[in-house]
Amino acid sequence: MRNAYIKGTGSYAPANVVKNDFFKAVGSSDEWIFKNLGIRERRISTGETTSDLAFKAGQLAIEDADLETSDIDLIIVATATPDRPAPSCACFVQEKLGAMSSVAFDISAVCSGALFSISTGVQFIRSGMYDHVLVIGADTFSTITDWSRRDSVFFGDGAGAMVLSETEEDKGFIDFILHTDGRGKEHFTILAGGSEVPTSQDSVDRKQHFFHMNGPEVYKTAIDVVPKCIDEILNKNNYSVEDIKWLLPHQPSIGILKTIAEKIGMPFEKVKTNMDRYANTSGGTIPIILDETHKNGGFEAGDLLLFAAVGAGWTWGTALYKW
Ligand SMILES: CC(C)(COP(=O)(O)OP(=O)(O)OC[C@H]1O[C@@H](n2cnc3c(N)ncnc32)[C@H](O)[C@@H]1OP(=O)(O)O)[C@@H](O)C(=O)NCCC(=O)NCCS
Repeated sequence: MRNAYIKGTGSYAPANVVKNDFFKAVGSSDEWIFKNLGIRERRISTGETTSDLAFKAGQLAIEDADLETSDIDLIIVATATPDRPAPSCACFVQEKLGAMSSVAFDISAVCSGALFSISTGVQFIRSGMYDHVLVIGADTFSTITDWSRRDSVFFGDGAGAMVLSETEEDKGFIDFILHTDGRGKEHFTILAGGSEVPTSQDSVDRKQHFFHMNGPEVYKTAIDVVPKCIDEILNKNNYSVEDIKWLLPHQPSIGILKTIAEKIGMPFEKVKTNMDRYANTSGGTIPIILDETHKNGGFEAGDLLLFAAVGAGWTWGTALYKW
């Protein structure tokens, strides 16, 4: 059966490192941030846009896949912080890559964006419509952060990418389970800049162009829906948690990931994390951790991997993959 597998990976983050001590000014501390969130530092853009990060990650993934940009049929960019509201960030990335024979569009699912984009790319390959799809998750949450608030500690900027290619071999994506619950939309939102509250002097004065997050609701939802979804995909495909080599999750906080691991009965050593160095890069998290693990020789043929994400919307999901 025609399937999609990960042929190449890449990632890129801005060089500028911001350590936790920076947040003393807003009443936080290195001790609190590391203990509760697992973050030591994050990368913050000093002028690079989301498409700049996405382009660099995408270019590295194409090189890693031993392909030319002209081989790419489709570019999907998962982002909540596109360069402009229109056109899509994917158009910027396509132009920067010079991948003029590809079609390109964005997917908006915030922290679940990479997973939703991967699942979309896989459908195009399985259907036979395209052979090579470049999926990029990229965000610059620094551009929607109110740096005078304590919740500015959570996010960093970064991008990760993967080339999905067709295969007839016994490897690649086994299954996806995706969910959305729009009743959760107020718990993580950017109020202004859309058709509901068009940008105005008033919206800027009210700081409505920054993200607003209900931290406790995010926590409560994440530790409820993600373990259920992982159980669902394992049961459906007759696997147990012992069969899984690595969980490559979105990186909201170390506390959330430890609770998820505990609930599904997975030793935390099997959970890949890098939020100590990047914090939460939203769309970037899963493709970045995938690239780091891949480049460090972390996968062997036949390894079963789980991807899991949860984000604003609410949106959440899992994917099961055979390396
Ligand atoms: C943010 C979070 C740690 C807050 O913990 P909480 O106990 O649920 O709720 P509160 O916001 O009431 O915070 C409780 C205490 O934590 C401390 N605290 C919260 N945020 C802090 C910060 N950034 N720095 C230092 N201390 C902080 C304070 O002592 C606070 O008490 P105070 O409000 O009286 O000062 C927790 O809800 C969480 O991890 N949420 C998930 C958020 C997330 O992962 N977002 C990213 C994915 S979209």
